[in-house]
Amino acid sequence: MTQERWLITGGAGYIGTHIADEFIRAGKFVVLFDSLYQGLESRIDYLRAKHGIDIPFIKGDIRDYNEIESAIRTHKIVGIVHTAALKAVGESMEKSDEYFQVNLEATNELIEIAKRNGVKKFIFSSTAAVYGSPDSMDPCTEDGPKAPISPYGDSKYQAESKVTAFINTPGNFGTSLRFFNVVGAAAKELLDNSVENLVPIVLGKLHKGEAPVIFGTDYPTADGTCVRDYVDVRDIARAHLAAADSTSALPATMNIGTGRGASVRQVIDLVLKAINKSGSEVIESPRRAGDPAFLCADVKLAKSAMGFESKYSLEESIRSLF
Ligand SMILES: NC(=O)c1ccc[n+]([C@@H]2O[C@H](COP(=O)([O-])OP(=O)(O)OC[C@H]3O[C@@H](n4cnc5c(N)ncnc54)[C@H](O)[C@@H]3O)[C@@H](O)[C@H]2O)c1
Repeated sequence: MTQERWLITGGAGYIGTHIADEFIRAGKFVVLFDSLYQGLESRIDYLRAKHGIDIPFIKGDIRDYNEIESAIRTHKIVGIVHTAALKAVGESMEKSDEYFQVNLEATNELIEIAKRNGVKKFIFSSTAAVYGSPDSMDPCTEDGPKAPISPYGDSKYQAESKVTAFINTPGNFGTSLRFFNVVGAAAKELLDNSVENLVPIVLGKLHKGEAPVIFGTDYPTADGTCVRDYVDVRDIARAHLAAADSTSALPATMNIGTGRGASVRQVIDLVLKAINKSGSEVIESPRRAGDPAFLCADVKLAKSAMGFESKYSLEESIRSLF
Protein backbone atom coordinates (compact mmCIF):
# COMPACT_ATOMS: atom_id res chain seq x y z
CA MET A 1 0.00 0.00 0.00
CA THR A 2 1.33 3.48 -0.82
CA GLN A 3 1.89 5.76 2.14
CA GLU A 4 -0.32 8.86 2.43
CA ARG A 5 1.94 11.91 2.18
CA TRP A 6 1.18 14.74 4.60
CA LEU A 7 2.76 18.15 5.03
CA ILE A 8 2.77 19.40 8.63
CA THR A 9 3.35 23.14 8.94
CA GLY A 10 4.72 24.13 12.33
CA GLY A 11 6.24 20.66 12.11
CA ALA A 12 9.02 21.45 14.58
CA GLY A 13 6.54 22.82 17.12
CA TYR A 14 5.21 21.26 20.29
CA ILE A 15 1.94 20.02 18.79
CA GLY A 16 3.25 19.57 15.23
CA THR A 17 5.90 17.07 16.33
CA HIS A 18 3.37 15.09 18.37
CA ILE A 19 1.12 14.88 15.31
CA ALA A 20 4.09 13.79 13.20
CA ASP A 21 4.90 11.10 15.78
CA GLU A 22 1.32 9.77 15.64
CA PHE A 23 1.09 9.91 11.83
CA ILE A 24 4.40 8.07 11.37
CA ARG A 25 3.32 5.44 13.88
CA ALA A 26 0.14 4.99 11.81
CA GLY A 27 2.19 4.46 8.62
CA LYS A 28 1.90 7.89 7.02
CA PHE A 29 4.77 9.76 5.34
CA VAL A 30 5.28 13.21 6.79
CA VAL A 31 7.15 16.27 5.58
CA LEU A 32 7.73 18.96 8.18
CA PHE A 33 7.81 22.70 7.45
CA ASP A 34 8.75 25.27 10.10
CA SER A 35 10.56 28.59 10.36
CA LEU A 36 12.08 27.52 13.70
CA TYR A 37 10.77 30.80 15.11
CA GLN A 38 9.57 28.81 18.10
CA GLY A 39 10.08 25.25 16.85
CA LEU A 40 13.10 23.10 17.63
CA GLU A 41 14.96 20.95 15.12
CA SER A 42 16.07 18.74 18.03
CA ARG A 43 12.47 17.52 18.29
CA ILE A 44 12.65 16.31 14.68
CA ASP A 45 16.00 14.64 15.35
CA TYR A 46 14.33 12.83 18.24
CA LEU A 47 11.53 11.59 15.94
CA ARG A 48 14.05 10.51 13.29
CA ALA A 49 15.92 8.44 15.87
CA LYS A 50 12.74 7.07 17.47
CA HIS A 51 11.25 5.85 14.19
CA GLY A 52 14.56 5.08 12.47
CA ILE A 53 13.60 7.01 9.34
CA ASP A 54 14.62 10.17 7.57
CA ILE A 55 11.93 12.82 8.02
CA PRO A 56 12.17 15.58 5.42
CA PHE A 57 12.32 18.99 7.08
CA ILE A 58 12.09 22.31 5.27
CA LYS A 59 13.12 25.39 7.21
CA GLY A 60 10.95 28.12 5.80
CA ASP A 61 8.38 30.77 6.55
CA ILE A 62 4.77 29.94 5.63
CA ARG A 63 4.65 33.43 4.09
CA ASP A 64 7.29 32.27 1.61
CA TYR A 65 4.68 30.91 -0.79
CA ASN A 66 7.16 29.67 -3.43
CA GLU A 67 8.95 27.61 -0.82
CA ILE A 68 5.77 26.03 0.45
CA GLU A 69 4.43 25.31 -3.04
CA SER A 70 7.73 23.70 -3.98
CA ALA A 71 7.57 21.49 -0.84
CA ILE A 72 4.04 20.36 -1.77
CA ARG A 73 5.05 19.57 -5.35
CA THR A 74 8.37 17.92 -4.57
CA HIS A 75 6.87 15.60 -1.97
CA LYS A 76 3.56 14.92 -3.80
CA ILE A 77 1.57 15.97 -0.74
CA VAL A 78 -2.07 14.81 -0.48
CA GLY A 79 -2.97 16.36 2.88
CA ILE A 80 -1.93 19.33 5.01
CA VAL A 81 -2.02 19.65 8.79
CA HIS A 82 -1.62 23.36 9.37
CA THR A 83 -0.33 24.10 12.87
CA ALA A 84 2.16 26.90 12.09
CA ALA A 85 1.03 30.08 13.79
CA LEU A 86 1.85 32.83 16.20
CA LYS A 87 0.01 31.96 19.39
CA ALA A 88 0.85 34.37 22.20
CA VAL A 89 -2.40 36.07 23.14
CA GLY A 90 -0.75 39.03 24.89
CA GLU A 91 1.77 39.61 22.11
CA SER A 92 -1.05 39.54 19.55
CA MET A 93 -2.40 42.78 21.10
CA GLU A 94 0.87 44.56 20.26
CA LYS A 95 1.59 42.88 16.94
CA SER A 96 -1.88 42.38 15.51
CA ASP A 97 -0.79 43.01 11.89
CA GLU A 98 1.78 40.26 12.05
CA TYR A 99 -0.71 37.89 13.72
CA PHE A 100 -3.23 38.44 10.93
CA GLN A 101 -0.50 38.04 8.31
CA VAL A 102 0.78 34.71 9.68
CA ASN A 103 -2.44 33.21 11.06
CA LEU A 104 -4.98 34.43 8.52
CA GLU A 105 -3.38 35.62 5.25
CA ALA A 106 -0.84 32.80 5.12
CA THR A 107 -3.55 30.22 5.90
CA ASN A 108 -5.65 31.63 3.07
CA GLU A 109 -2.69 31.48 0.69
CA LEU A 110 -1.79 27.97 1.81
CA ILE A 111 -5.33 26.90 0.92
CA GLU A 112 -4.97 28.49 -2.54
CA ILE A 113 -1.69 26.62 -3.02
CA ALA A 114 -3.38 23.39 -1.87
CA LYS A 115 -6.15 23.91 -4.45
CA ARG A 116 -3.69 24.60 -7.27
CA ASN A 117 -1.79 21.43 -6.47
CA GLY A 118 -4.63 18.96 -6.02
CA VAL A 119 -4.30 18.68 -2.23
CA LYS A 120 -7.71 17.55 -1.03
CA LYS A 121 -7.27 17.24 2.72
CA PHE A 122 -6.72 20.11 5.15
CA ILE A 123 -6.77 19.98 8.95
CA PHE A 124 -6.41 23.33 10.68
CA SER A 125 -5.26 24.09 14.25
CA SER A 126 -7.86 26.38 15.71
CA THR A 127 -8.36 27.29 19.32
CA ALA A 128 -10.82 27.76 22.18
CA ALA A 129 -9.82 31.44 21.94
CA VAL A 130 -12.51 31.78 19.23
CA TYR A 131 -15.06 31.63 22.08
CA GLY A 132 -13.48 34.66 23.75
CA SER A 133 -14.47 35.24 27.35
CA PRO A 134 -17.95 33.76 27.77
CA ASP A 135 -20.06 34.60 30.83
CA SER A 136 -21.64 31.18 30.74
CA MET A 137 -20.62 28.35 33.07
CA ASP A 138 -21.68 25.78 30.44
CA PRO A 139 -19.26 23.96 28.14
CA CYS A 140 -18.74 25.66 24.75
CA THR A 141 -20.51 24.06 21.81
CA GLU A 142 -19.19 24.56 18.30
CA ASP A 143 -22.29 26.43 17.15
CA GLY A 144 -22.49 28.60 20.29
CA PRO A 145 -21.42 32.26 20.44
CA LYS A 146 -17.98 33.14 19.10
CA ALA A 147 -16.52 36.40 20.33
CA PRO A 148 -12.73 36.37 20.27
CA ILE A 149 -11.22 39.06 22.47
CA SER A 150 -7.68 39.05 21.04
CA PRO A 151 -6.20 39.43 17.55
CA TYR A 152 -4.88 35.88 18.07
CA GLY A 153 -8.41 34.45 18.56
CA ASP A 154 -9.84 36.66 15.84
CA SER A 155 -7.17 35.66 13.30
CA LYS A 156 -7.88 31.99 13.99
CA TYR A 157 -11.65 32.49 13.83
CA GLN A 158 -11.42 34.22 10.46
CA ALA A 159 -9.00 31.57 9.18
CA GLU A 160 -11.52 28.87 10.10
CA SER A 161 -13.96 30.31 7.56
CA LYS A 162 -11.33 29.96 4.79
CA VAL A 163 -10.83 26.33 5.76
CA THR A 164 -14.59 25.78 5.83
CA ALA A 165 -14.92 27.17 2.29
CA PHE A 166 -12.16 24.78 1.16
CA ILE A 167 -13.71 21.68 2.75
CA ASN A 168 -17.17 22.57 1.48
CA THR A 169 -15.89 22.20 -2.09
CA PRO A 170 -16.93 18.76 -3.34
CA GLY A 171 -14.03 16.32 -3.27
CA ASN A 172 -12.24 18.18 -0.48
CA PHE A 173 -11.97 17.00 3.05
CA GLY A 174 -10.92 18.27 6.47
CA THR A 175 -11.86 20.34 9.47
CA SER A 176 -10.75 22.99 11.94
CA LEU A 177 -9.99 21.53 15.36
CA ARG A 178 -10.43 23.91 18.28
CA PHE A 179 -7.90 22.86 20.89
CA PHE A 180 -8.49 23.80 24.51
CA ASN A 181 -5.49 24.01 26.92
CA VAL A 182 -2.87 21.58 25.68
CA VAL A 183 -0.64 19.81 28.24
CA GLY A 184 1.71 16.85 28.55
CA ALA A 185 4.37 15.37 26.31
CA ALA A 186 5.10 12.00 24.74
CA ALA A 187 8.79 12.38 25.63
CA LYS A 188 11.03 14.93 27.33
CA GLU A 189 12.50 15.76 23.90
CA LEU A 190 9.06 17.01 22.77
CA LEU A 191 8.19 19.22 25.76
CA ASP A 192 6.33 22.51 25.28
CA ASN A 193 8.95 25.31 25.21
CA SER A 194 6.48 28.19 25.14
CA VAL A 195 5.66 30.43 28.08
CA GLU A 196 1.99 30.83 27.30
CA ASN A 197 0.34 27.91 29.10
CA LEU A 198 -0.28 27.52 32.81
CA VAL A 199 1.78 24.36 33.39
CA PRO A 200 5.00 25.63 31.71
CA ILE A 201 4.52 28.96 33.54
CA VAL A 202 4.19 27.21 36.91
CA LEU A 203 7.18 24.98 36.17
CA GLY A 204 9.23 28.01 35.08
CA LYS A 205 8.48 29.79 38.37
CA LEU A 206 9.32 26.74 40.46
CA HIS A 207 12.53 26.26 38.51
CA LYS A 208 13.61 29.77 39.47
CA GLY A 209 12.72 29.11 43.11
CA GLU A 210 9.70 31.43 42.89
CA ALA A 211 6.13 30.78 44.03
CA PRO A 212 3.43 30.16 41.38
CA VAL A 213 0.81 32.89 41.03
CA ILE A 214 -2.98 32.51 40.89
CA PHE A 215 -4.77 35.41 39.19
CA GLY A 216 -8.19 35.72 40.79
CA THR A 217 -9.55 33.67 43.68
CA ASP A 218 -13.06 35.12 43.73
CA TYR A 219 -14.54 33.56 40.60
CA PRO A 220 -17.90 31.78 40.87
CA THR A 221 -16.22 28.35 40.71
CA ALA A 222 -15.86 25.63 43.38
CA ASP A 223 -12.49 26.93 44.70
CA GLY A 224 -12.75 30.51 43.37
CA THR A 225 -10.07 30.08 40.66
CA CYS A 226 -10.59 29.86 36.89
CA VAL A 227 -11.58 26.54 35.39
CA ARG A 228 -10.18 25.32 32.06
CA ASP A 229 -10.23 22.15 29.97
CA TYR A 230 -6.72 20.64 29.85
CA VAL A 231 -6.24 18.17 27.01
CA ASP A 232 -3.16 16.02 26.53
CA VAL A 233 -1.03 16.73 23.45
CA ARG A 234 -1.07 12.99 22.69
CA ASP A 235 -4.86 13.19 22.52
CA ILE A 236 -4.56 16.21 20.21
CA ALA A 237 -2.37 14.04 17.95
CA ARG A 238 -4.90 11.16 18.11
CA ALA A 239 -7.68 13.58 17.13
CA HIS A 240 -5.70 14.59 14.03
CA LEU A 241 -5.21 10.98 13.04
CA ALA A 242 -8.93 10.31 13.52
CA ALA A 243 -9.71 13.32 11.31
CA ALA A 244 -7.15 12.33 8.67
CA ASP A 245 -8.46 8.77 8.51
CA SER A 246 -12.16 9.61 8.67
CA THR A 247 -14.01 8.24 5.69
CA SER A 248 -17.09 10.42 6.12
CA ALA A 249 -17.41 14.19 5.81
CA LEU A 250 -16.45 15.97 9.02
CA PRO A 251 -18.07 18.97 10.69
CA ALA A 252 -16.36 22.23 9.74
CA THR A 253 -15.20 22.79 13.32
CA MET A 254 -14.78 20.49 16.30
CA ASN A 255 -13.76 21.11 19.89
CA ILE A 256 -10.86 18.99 21.07
CA GLY A 257 -10.84 18.84 24.84
CA THR A 258 -11.67 16.41 27.61
CA GLY A 259 -15.07 17.82 28.57
CA ARG A 260 -13.76 18.05 32.17
CA GLY A 261 -12.67 21.22 33.88
CA ALA A 262 -9.78 21.72 36.29
CA SER A 263 -9.16 24.86 38.30
CA VAL A 264 -5.92 26.82 38.36
CA ARG A 265 -5.50 25.82 42.00
CA GLN A 266 -6.01 22.14 41.18
CA VAL A 267 -3.43 22.30 38.38
CA ILE A 268 -0.86 23.99 40.62
CA ASP A 269 -1.51 21.42 43.37
CA LEU A 270 -0.98 18.58 40.88
CA VAL A 271 2.29 20.09 39.67
CA LEU A 272 3.51 20.60 43.24
CA LYS A 273 2.52 17.03 44.11
CA ALA A 274 4.38 15.68 41.05
CA ILE A 275 7.60 17.32 42.29
CA ASN A 276 7.01 16.39 45.95
CA LYS A 277 6.43 19.99 46.99
CA SER A 278 2.78 19.81 48.06
CA GLY A 279 1.82 22.65 50.37
CA SER A 280 4.45 25.07 48.99
CA GLU A 281 3.67 28.77 48.90
CA VAL A 282 1.30 30.01 46.17
CA ILE A 283 0.79 33.75 45.57
CA GLU A 284 -2.80 34.98 45.18
CA SER A 285 -3.18 38.02 42.91
CA PRO A 286 -6.20 39.97 41.64
CA ARG A 287 -8.05 38.82 38.52
CA ARG A 288 -6.58 39.60 35.08
CA ALA A 289 -8.79 41.37 32.55
CA GLY A 290 -10.42 39.06 30.02
CA ASP A 291 -10.07 35.76 31.90
CA PRO A 292 -13.42 33.95 31.89
CA ALA A 293 -14.31 31.98 35.04
CA PHE A 294 -15.01 28.84 33.04
CA LEU A 295 -13.89 27.72 29.57
CA CYS A 296 -14.40 24.05 28.83
CA ALA A 297 -15.26 22.05 25.76
CA ASP A 298 -18.45 20.30 24.90
CA VAL A 299 -16.88 17.23 23.30
CA LYS A 300 -19.92 15.45 21.91
CA LEU A 301 -19.39 16.48 18.30
CA ALA A 302 -15.86 15.05 17.92
CA LYS A 303 -17.13 11.80 19.45
CA SER A 304 -20.14 11.45 17.18
CA ALA A 305 -18.36 12.65 14.02
CA MET A 306 -15.12 10.70 14.26
CA GLY A 307 -15.33 8.55 17.39
CA PHE A 308 -12.74 10.68 19.15
CA GLU A 309 -12.55 10.79 22.94
CA SER A 310 -9.64 11.97 25.08
CA LYS A 311 -7.75 9.19 26.83
CA TYR A 312 -5.31 10.86 29.22
CA SER A 313 -6.23 12.27 32.64
CA LEU A 314 -4.74 15.58 33.80
CA GLU A 315 -2.69 13.65 36.40
CA GLU A 316 -1.17 11.53 33.61
CA SER A 317 -0.47 14.62 31.50
CA ILE A 318 1.33 16.35 34.35
CA ARG A 319 3.26 13.20 35.28
CA SER A 320 4.39 12.92 31.64
CA LEU A 321 6.38 16.13 32.11
CA PHE A 322 8.75 14.64 34.65
N1 LIG B 1 -0.58 24.87 22.82
C1 LIG B 1 -1.87 25.15 23.03
O1 LIG B 1 -2.36 25.09 24.17
C2 LIG B 1 -2.77 25.51 21.86
C3 LIG B 1 -4.13 25.70 22.13
C4 LIG B 1 -4.97 26.03 21.06
C5 LIG B 1 -4.46 26.13 19.79
N2 LIG B 1 -3.14 25.95 19.57
C6 LIG B 1 -2.66 26.07 18.18
O2 LIG B 1 -1.91 24.91 17.87
C7 LIG B 1 -0.90 25.23 16.93
C8 LIG B 1 0.43 24.69 17.40
O3 LIG B 1 0.74 25.29 18.63
P1 LIG B 1 1.95 24.82 19.55
O4 LIG B 1 1.49 24.87 20.95
O5 LIG B 1 2.55 23.58 19.00
O6 LIG B 1 2.95 26.05 19.35
P2 LIG B 1 4.42 26.07 18.81
O7 LIG B 1 4.85 27.49 18.85
O8 LIG B 1 5.26 25.06 19.49
O9 LIG B 1 4.21 25.62 17.30
C9 LIG B 1 3.95 26.52 16.25
C10 LIG B 1 5.07 26.36 15.24
O10 LIG B 1 4.83 27.24 14.15
C11 LIG B 1 6.09 27.76 13.76
N3 LIG B 1 5.87 29.03 13.09
C12 LIG B 1 5.43 30.19 13.63
N4 LIG B 1 5.36 31.13 12.67
C13 LIG B 1 5.76 30.54 11.52
C14 LIG B 1 5.90 30.99 10.18
N5 LIG B 1 5.62 32.25 9.83
N6 LIG B 1 6.34 30.13 9.24
C15 LIG B 1 6.64 28.84 9.57
N7 LIG B 1 6.52 28.37 10.81
C16 LIG B 1 6.09 29.21 11.77
C17 LIG B 1 6.88 27.91 15.04
O11 LIG B 1 8.29 27.94 14.81
C18 LIG B 1 6.44 26.71 15.83
O12 LIG B 1 7.31 25.62 15.67
C19 LIG B 1 -0.94 26.74 16.75
O13 LIG B 1 -1.65 27.01 15.57
C20 LIG B 1 -1.70 27.23 17.96
O14 LIG B 1 -2.40 28.41 17.68
C21 LIG B 1 -2.27 25.64 20.57
